[in-house]
Amino acid sequence: MIEKISMECFTDEEFQSRITIKRLGEYVGKSVILMGWIHRKRLHGQVIFLDLRDESGFMQLVIPKTLEIAKMAETLKEEFVLFVKGEVAQRSAENINPKVALGNLEVFVSEIRVINKSEPLPFAVNLYEGNLDENLRMRYRYLDLRRDVMRQNIVMRHKIIKFIRDYMDNYDFVEVETPMLTKGTPEGSREYVVPSRISKGQFYVLPQSPQQFKQLLMVGGLGRYFQIARCFRDEDLRADRQPEFTQLDIEMSYICQEQLLQFIESFMISLFQKFNPEKNFKFMPFKRISYYEAMTKYGSDKPDLRFDMPIMDATDVFQDTTFQVFINILKEKGNIKGIKVENKSFTVKETKELTQIAIDQGGTKGMFAINFLENSIKSSLASHLKPEEIEKIKAIFDAKPGDTVLLIADIARVVHKTLGILRLEVARRLGIMEKVKNDLAFLWVIDFPLLDWSEEENKYVTTHHPFTSPKDEDIPALFSGDPLKILTKAYDIVLNGSEMGGGSIRIHNQDLQHKIFEMLSLKEEDIQARFGHILRAFQYGAPPHGGIAFGIDRLVTVLQNGSSIRDVIAFPKNNSARDLLMEAPSPIHEDQLKELGIQIEKPKTE
Ligand code: AMO
Repeated sequence: MIEKISMECFTDEEFQSRITIKRLGEYVGKSVILMGWIHRKRLHGQVIFLDLRDESGFMQLVIPKTLEIAKMAETLKEEFVLFVKGEVAQRSAENINPKVALGNLEVFVSEIRVINKSEPLPFAVNLYEGNLDENLRMRYRYLDLRRDVMRQNIVMRHKIIKFIRDYMDNYDFVEVETPMLTKGTPEGSREYVVPSRISKGQFYVLPQSPQQFKQLLMVGGLGRYFQIARCFRDEDLRADRQPEFTQLDIEMSYICQEQLLQFIESFMISLFQKFNPEKNFKFMPFKRISYYEAMTKYGSDKPDLRFDMPIMDATDVFQDTTFQVFINILKEKGNIKGIKVENKSFTVKETKELTQIAIDQGGTKGMFAINFLENSIKSSLASHLKPEEIEKIKAIFDAKPGDTVLLIADIARVVHKTLGILRLEVARRLGIMEKVKNDLAFLWVIDFPLLDWSEEENKYVTTHHPFTSPKDEDIPALFSGDPLKILTKAYDIVLNGSEMGGGSIRIHNQDLQHKIFEMLSLKEEDIQARFGHILRAFQYGAPPHGGIAFGIDRLVTVLQNGSSIRDVIAFPKNNSARDLLMEAPSPIHEDQLKELGIQIEKPKTE
């Protein structure tokens, strides 16, 4: 049937004179050649309207039914690819569509050729609204990308990355590509590994970040490095996490924390001002709070500070309580803390729902609501509270008649986590989130502890990566003292409750770096096998250095007012880390496995 397939229906000359739709304003009154897809077809009495779509925009094509080509035009279907010749005209005043770009123009068609046909699509790409099944979108990503919103996302991503590259270049940063096939840099996730054919039984690791390379570039004298870097992490996925994602990775020599934070603040302001226009973003002043304050006051290491609603401590109020639940908590050295919700009394149903959220998501056993009235309270706790306890709670929370205090009693970690969750839930329910949706609340979380104790592994683990420098004054505690009290020169940048980036001033001293590895219970042979290269590099005059990395996908999502990073990635993976378009991961041929020296146990069949 090959003779039936028409391979070419336009000449090179015609191809060369093709005009993209966005340029049609320059051609009013002139004849043009357009190529693109039929976005929508409408039949109107004596006229056929075709909306043509190309990579640059949309244009209304007009074909009066009196024309010879009208019969053929009537048979055309959406998503056919067309060659169109016609004359660009100004629309009459009553026909102007102010809602679309170039809605003042139309093209009167004199010739149409079908370049390619299309089967009916698995989903409509010309709908602006509507919830499409995401798995279907991913399976047919090339169609999904035809949707206007997706095209805008991808184009905007390109523009944001271009802006970043120019900005960095302007400040003397050099972009350097670092290896993908390498050795692991611990960033807290599992690693993706690649078997080596030449060195059988050995593996490369895909980088979780270019962390060690950027530090080695500083040792290499580069001074200021950046990279739009691909990173790979085998972790549980969510709306803001992908197994393969992109970082804006930055490192500088001879930089202290304060200089770095200020540089990044200016950069963020420039970026958000540049991509602000229609969204009316409102900058709130950059804040800085310690990790401890973030956790105890807002119940999160990435608090949303567009509104306050802080956690207050009411533990002391209950020292002489007769309420058995509180007595038990206090015996276990637990806490009783709460948040105040202004001007709101929750219904029984609402209180039940919030309690369930506290139990399910916070992992606590219950929640107590105290609604302050003019001279009394309404609460399931009422019969357990003495008048002086009520007065003290009122004073701690500065509660006015009409306000409600939500209390959680549990071990400190659970109290903070649960109140952090309730704080956000209440803000959503009361419409506070809606009110602050255009605000930009940037926040630096600083003074992270260096180490955490892992019950599971029975050893210290780092809260960031192991190259993070402790604060100078805390270094002695590495040798004698409580290692859990050591704070670091690490910082996370949080925007509206989402972690945009994180970094630190690094260790550049071989002995200190070695000591940190020892603190992590690494044996000498492991230290040398995994990190010998970086320890060696530090022997040869390593300059002090520090840096940061941003999640580009997250930045673009916020700048596009989106809700999932998958929408700003051309070919994302689903929540099971599957590429539904390419159908990866997939089995590979046995010969390939043999070549790699890998044996796979076949799954047992019933
Ligand atoms: P960190 O691990 O904090 O730091 O990562 C930096 C930023 O990368 C983004 N990010 C992700 N985005 C999408 N999907 C993921 N799975 C994912 N994981 C992280 C986040 C995060 O803030 N080497 C250090 C940086 C440094 O110290 O300079 C690092 O990678 O926005």
